[in-house]
Amino acid sequence: MREQIARGLEEARGRTLGLTDVDEVELSAQHSPLMSPLVWDLAHIGQQEDLWLLRRGNAGAQGVLAHKIEQLYDAFEHPRASRIDLPLLPPGEARRFISEVRGRVFDGLDRVGEATPEQLFPYVMVEQHEQQHVETMLATHQLRTGAPLLGRGAPLPSGRVVPAGSVLVPAGPFTLGVDLDDEPWALDNERPAHRVDLPAFRIAQVPVSNGEWQAFVAAGGYDHPQWWSERGWQHRLQAGLQRPLFWSAAGSRRRFGHVEEIPADEPVQHVCFFEAEAFAAWAGARLPTEQEWEKACVWDPVAHRRRRWPWGDSGWRPEMANLGGDALRPAPVGAYEHGASAYGVEQMIGDVWEWTSSRFEPWPGFETMLYADYSAPFFAGDYRVLRGGSWAVGGASIRPSFRNWDLPVRRQIFSGVRLAWDV
Ligand code: AVJ
Ligand code: FE
Repeated sequence: MREQIARGLEEARGRTLGLTDVDEVELSAQHSPLMSPLVWDLAHIGQQEDLWLLRRGNAGAQGVLAHKIEQLYDAFEHPRASRIDLPLLPPGEARRFISEVRGRVFDGLDRVGEATPEQLFPYVMVEQHEQQHVETMLATHQLRTGAPLLGRGAPLPSGRVVPAGSVLVPAGPFTLGVDLDDEPWALDNERPAHRVDLPAFRIAQVPVSNGEWQAFVAAGGYDHPQWWSERGWQHRLQAGLQRPLFWSAAGSRRRFGHVEEIPADEPVQHVCFFEAEAFAAWAGARLPTEQEWEKACVWDPVAHRRRRWPWGDSGWRPEMANLGGDALRPAPVGAYEHGASAYGVEQMIGDVWEWTSSRFEPWPGFETMLYADYSAPFFAGDYRVLRGGSWAVGGASIRPSFRNWDLPVRRQIFSGVRLAWDV
C-alpha cells in the first residue's frame, strides 16, 4: 500500500510539473482574475504537503519555508485576484521548495512500518489536494490567451448513438455517502453513509451534448427569461451570457489556444449553474439533486447495495471513463457503454462535472478531517454541488461519493449538464 501511495503522489507531481513547464512570464502572469498565477498553485501544493504531512497540521511548528513566506500561500488570507501582488517565490525557488518537501515526505513514508489506512489517509488526502490543483491549473491554461502551450490531447474512444434517452430509477431507499471502512480515502464531506429514501425519477443516460446546446442557442434560449430563474436571468443580463464560455459567435471554440470546430457529439462544458438550469427548463426537464445523482450512479437495485463504481467494484480503467487529463477534452456521448451503472446511466464518472440542483451542505453526522477547513467553511454558502469528475480529474482522486462545489456563476471549470425528470 505504501508503494501505491508513493506512486500516486509521484503521478500527481508529474502532472504538476508538466503544466508548470512553461516560461517564467507565463508562470508568473495573472491569466484571469478568477485564477491564481500558476506559480502560486505550484508553491501552495508544497505548502499544504509540508503542513499536513511534515507537521501534521501544526501550523505553529517551523516548516520548510519561513513563516512570512509560507503565509503567502494561505488560500483564506489572499483572494485569487490579488495573489499577483504578493512577493511570491520565483518559479525556480518554488520548484526547489516542493521537491525538498517531497523528499522529506518520502523519508517519513519509509519510516512508517506496517501502516494502517488511518495512518496513510493524510498522504492520500494530500495527493488528492495536488490533483485538485492540477485541475485548477488546467482551468488557468484554458483561460489563458495567446499561442497554445498544450497540445490537442490524446485520442479518445468514439461515441455511439444512445437511443433510449433516459432511464427510470424507481422510488425506494438507498445508501447515500460512504464510511472509511469501505472508502478509506473518502474526504470528510462524503461521510458518513446513511439511508435516504427517494421518490421515483428519470435521469438522462448521457450528458447534454454541444449539438443539443447549439439547438438551445438557436431557439433563442439565451433571450427568453421564461427558461431562467430570476437570479439566473439577472446574471445572464449582467454578464452578457450568449453561449458557453470559449464558444465564438462564428460557431467555433477555443480550447487551450487551439481554435476548432465545436464537436456536436461531445458533452457541453464551460456552462454555469444558471445556464444549466435554463437549458433544463427549455428541454422540459430539471437538474438532478445530488442524492438522485448518487443513487443513479452506484445503487444496485437487485443486490440492494452500493457498488464502488458505476460499472462494479473494480477500479477505474481507461476503457471505463475519461479521467486523468491526457485527452484535454470530454469524450463523445456514448463512448463508455461498459462504464454504465446498474440503472444503465453512462459517463457519470469523468468527461464533465455535472451540475446538480443541490446546495453544498454536510451529511447528517458530518465530522471534519485533519484538514478541517477543507469543506466546513463552505457549507451554507451560495455553492452548488457538482458530481462525477471531469476529464481533467486524476484517476485516483474521484469516487461516486465525491462532492465538488462552486458558485452558480462559475464556468471556467469543466462543468456540464445531465438532465432529470419527475415521474
Ligand atoms: C473542491 C475544487 C471546491 O478549489 O476550492 C483546493 C479544492 N480546496 N485547495 C477548491 C481545494 C483547497 C476546492 N474544490
Ligand atoms: Fe488548495
